[in-house]
Amino acid sequence: MNRPEKMLRPATQLVHGGSLRSAFGETSEAMFLTQGFLYETMEAAEARFKGEEPGFIYSRFSNPTVAMFEKRMALLEGAEAARATASGMAAVTAALLGQLKTGDHVVAARALFGSCRYVVEELLPRFGVASTLVDGARLDEWQAAIRPNTKSLFLESPTNPTLDIYDIAAIAAIAHEAGATLVVDNVFATPLYQRPLELGADCVVYSATKHVDGQGRCLGGVILGAEAFIQTHIHNLLRQTGPSLSPFNAWVLLKGLETLTVRVAAQSRSAAQIADFLAKADGIARVLYPGREDHPQHQLARRQMSGFGTLVAFELLGGKASAFRFANALSIIGISNNLGDAKSLITHPATTTHQRLSPQIRAEMGIGEGLLRLSVGLEDVEDILADLSAALAVVA
Ligand SMILES: Cc1ncc(COP(=O)(O)O)c(C=O)c1O
Repeated sequence: MNRPEKMLRPATQLVHGGSLRSAFGETSEAMFLTQGFLYETMEAAEARFKGEEPGFIYSRFSNPTVAMFEKRMALLEGAEAARATASGMAAVTAALLGQLKTGDHVVAARALFGSCRYVVEELLPRFGVASTLVDGARLDEWQAAIRPNTKSLFLESPTNPTLDIYDIAAIAAIAHEAGATLVVDNVFATPLYQRPLELGADCVVYSATKHVDGQGRCLGGVILGAEAFIQTHIHNLLRQTGPSLSPFNAWVLLKGLETLTVRVAAQSRSAAQIADFLAKADGIARVLYPGREDHPQHQLARRQMSGFGTLVAFELLGGKASAFRFANALSIIGISNNLGDAKSLITHPATTTHQRLSPQIRAEMGIGEGLLRLSVGLEDVEDILADLSAALAVVA
C-alpha cells in the first residue's frame, strides 16, 4: 500500500511530494509556462469559476507548477496550506497586510531584516496600523507591548544578521492569550531545522530566494499556515492583488527543494566548523553561531532547533576599516547581501542591508561597524578556511 506523502520523511517529500504528473509521464516536474487554461465548453468555464469543478483558471490565481511547489513546501513544513509569492518580501507583506485593517496594532522584534522593518515601521502605519518594536529576547517586552487592538506579532529567529534566538513557543503563547497571531520569518533556520507551526506560530513565511533555491537563480516566497488562516487572510489578497510566483521560478524552486536536505546539512556542518575556527582566530572580537555554547541563547536554540544553520556572524576588531579590508582580501567568498547560496557570501550589514537604520538603532541591535555576516556555501570547507585565514592575515 502506498504511504501517504505526509508520512514520508523530509528528504523523500522534497524529491517526490506534490508532483502533478502530466499524461506524458515525465520524471522531472513539468514547467507549465502558461498564463491561462482552456475550458472544453462554456458550461465547464462557468462551473470552474463557480468552484463547482476543480481545475486551474488563470496563473495569477494558481498554476500547476506553482501548485506543485506549494504542496511540496506545505508537506515539508507540516502545514495545511501554502501560497507562493514572487519574493520573500511579497510573502512577509501579504502575511501581515492580509490580517490587518486600520486601527489594528502589530508588535514585532526590533531585529528584523531591513525591508521587514520598513513594512512594520513605515508601510503599515501609513494605513493606520500602529506598530511597536521590542527586544525579541525579552518576553516581558512582548507582553508589555500588547494592546487591546493587537492583532499580530512578528519575528525572525535566528535574526538577521546577529543570529539571536527568540522563544517561539513563549511568544506564541503571549500572542494567543491576547487573541493575536504569531507570524515567523523562518528563513535563517530553514524548514529543516525549525518548525514554527509546531511551536505554536500561526503563519510561517520564507524568502525561497535563499536556501530553497540555494543556487542564486531566482526570487520567490511562500506563506504557510492552517487552511483557515490562509483562506481568511491570504488567499483573496494574493489572487486579487497579484504578487504571484512565476511558473518558471516555481519550477526552479521545486528543483531546488530536491537537494535542500543535502545542501543545508553540508553547509551547516561547514558553518559550525568555520565558527569554531573564527572563535580561536586573532583579530576577532566575537563570533555568533547558535550551535556554539558561547552563543547567548544556545540552550534555547538547542530546544527549538534541530540544526543551527548556514550563517555565522563575527565582529572584527578595528571596526569598518578592518571589516572592509578583510572582506576585500577574500578570493573564494564573494561580497554580496544575499545568503543561503551554494557560493559562500559575506555581507557588511552596517553599510548594506541595515544601512537605512540610524547608527544608534544599529548599536542597539548589536550591528557594530566591524560585524560581518557569512553565509557558508558548498565549497570544500578547507578552501573556505584557507580563504578566511589569508584575509585575517591581511588585517592582522
Ligand atoms: C530574513 C529575511 N526575510 C525576508 C527576506 C526577503 O526576501 P526576498 O529578497 O526574497 O524578497 C530576506 C532577504 O532578502 C531575509 O533575509
